[in-house]
Amino acid sequence: MRILGIKNAKIDDTTLDVHFENDMVVCFEDCWLRDHCRCSKCFVTNTNLRANHLIELPDVTMKSVIVNGSELQVTWSDEHESTYDAEFLAEFEMKAWVDRRRINHIIWRGDEISHKVARIPVDKFLKTKQGAKAIFQSILDYGVAFIEEVEPTLDGTAVVAEALGGIQQTLFGGMWDIKVDESLNDTAFMSIPLPQHTDLSSFTDPAGLQLLHSLEHTNGEGGETVLVDGFYAAAKLKEEHPRDYDFLTKFPVEAEYKFNGHSFRHAAPAIELDMITNDVRQIRFNSYDRSPMAFTNGDDCRTYYRSLKHFASSIENKKNHWQFKLKPGVVMVFDNFRLLHGRTGFTGRRVLGGTYVSRTNWMDKARVLELIH
Ligand SMILES: [Fe+2]
Ligand SMILES: [Zn+2]
Repeated sequence: MRILGIKNAKIDDTTLDVHFENDMVVCFEDCWLRDHCRCSKCFVTNTNLRANHLIELPDVTMKSVIVNGSELQVTWSDEHESTYDAEFLAEFEMKAWVDRRRINHIIWRGDEISHKVARIPVDKFLKTKQGAKAIFQSILDYGVAFIEEVEPTLDGTAVVAEALGGIQQTLFGGMWDIKVDESLNDTAFMSIPLPQHTDLSSFTDPAGLQLLHSLEHTNGEGGETVLVDGFYAAAKLKEEHPRDYDFLTKFPVEAEYKFNGHSFRHAAPAIELDMITNDVRQIRFNSYDRSPMAFTNGDDCRTYYRSLKHFASSIENKKNHWQFKLKPGVVMVFDNFRLLHGRTGFTGRRVLGGTYVSRTNWMDKARVLELIH
């Protein structure tokens, strides 16, 4: 790759205007440049951390600047000297900097992605970089991937969870299983259909990924998994009801979960935007755990109901649903910040195993694999 060069650099009071060879111009403030000095007094290369506290940043001015091919040297009023690589400085062109932080999701509806999502044998996922990349890329693209030929036990599922970033502890523990035996009357109510939702909406840090593994389903039928792309529903809402979309990106919908000696509560927009890219970052929606809320005025209250109803009807629209049956040996992993999930009603004995992985930890894996910035 050709090294990017600098044509010239000009000090304009407290600003340095840098003209690159490709005709790009980026302007840097003196405080930024001094803060980003990469000399050994200012920066520790092996830890990639600054050496000094922000408070110690001196109030200095640029005395002179010299361009030397792909390097730029600044001499400061306190005689400190800083050298910057053109490649490093070019990273801070605003649009390119923002674009690198975007995740290029592929929005979908219905079953149109059923032949596109990754289905990778567990050995290939665990032992090859190519297998790991395929799984994480599928989660980034579509919000879902399948790991196959997994031992149909909680232990087998835990191995997959560790490789996806590590098990996230919640009130349900680390690994959990849900056993429903429809023949036992007292739990029969749990086999009714489950509408679309994201998990842990009352948490400050809801699960990043959710893993589901059907460990057993005997003497019955139904119990199919239903997925819907929350980013598709958000895009549809923006197109059809822009005022509702705007409201749901700002209004803090409070959720709560009080059960078994626990008490969770968190308020956040149902559609949360990334503050840098302005793209949709997270969907939080569970119709049932919404807190009773007070409203500033009647208009806000009515807008809360109207906008959530519009959003939910898109989420519940069958045309947007991808429905399928999970089988023992196949771990489904999906992005709980993006997809909503549900289940059709069922009969018989069904054991579903699963766990969560925090967003911090799975994004770390995806970043190390160089799939995201
Ligand atoms: Fe759930
Ligand atoms: Zn320095």
